[in-house]
Amino acid sequence: MAEQRLQKVLASAGVASRRKCEELILEGAVRVNRKVVDKLPAFVDAERDIITVNGRKIRAEPKVYFLLNKPKGVVCTNSDPAGRRRVIDIVRSKGRIFCVGRLDVDTTGLIMLTNDSELTNRLTHPRYGLAKTYVVRVKGEIGGGAVEKLKKGIWLSEGKTGKASVKILRRSHKESSLEVTIRQGLNRQVRRMLARVGHKVVSLKRTHIGKLGLRGLGTGKYRRLSGSEVGYLKRVTGVVGEGAKDKTTGRTIQES
Ligand code: URA
Repeated sequence: MAEQRLQKVLASAGVASRRKCEELILEGAVRVNRKVVDKLPAFVDAERDIITVNGRKIRAEPKVYFLLNKPKGVVCTNSDPAGRRRVIDIVRSKGRIFCVGRLDVDTTGLIMLTNDSELTNRLTHPRYGLAKTYVVRVKGEIGGGAVEKLKKGIWLSEGKTGKASVKILRRSHKESSLEVTIRQGLNRQVRRMLARVGHKVVSLKRTHIGKLGLRGLGTGKYRRLSGSEVGYLKRVTGVVGEGAKDKTTGRTIQES
């Protein structure tokens, strides 16, 4: 586990707000491994260091990891001014959790929720390039030329998208279904890629995040990730083990 700011660890353990925790530190109320720490910044390993506040030991908030099969019409933000149903209204968890990345309100399928901000940052960072697979239904018959363009990368306002894997699942004059795997997470990326090759998306569903799939999860259902699934995500993003490989250079990524 990487080191984190002391006030963040205190706040996520429920001691007080981050600001108030900073005050407690500066007042000399906090000890780390028996030594008073009264200067900032201060960094700790929440899983290894013994931290006390006014003599009381604090417990690091246990990390939780969920996979949800998101229904249509539910939003991935934790605060929605329009008052729509949020994914965090579906998943019951004691502490604060948040989505790893986003699915549009109309997109269905696999979304992960957690309180682990370090893993979230890595999973959503483009350089770790975890594969995300979508089944997309579009209007009209998709041609070979469009599929080739999608595979090679499409120019969007942010630049050219990375290489994609594309498989045609069904095709008729009226509608086509494709399986598209991408390694980036640009806003509305799949919809915009399909729009660029002239096809309007009828429905979009994420079926896989890396090797994690939807199997056994009905719409609106969720489950906790197993220890080995969490281990897998930590390994592929370099939180544990040798470190992740940069998809473009093939080199092991060093955290900056
Ligand atoms: N691409 C999209 O267009 N929408 C999503 O929700 C996810 C990927």
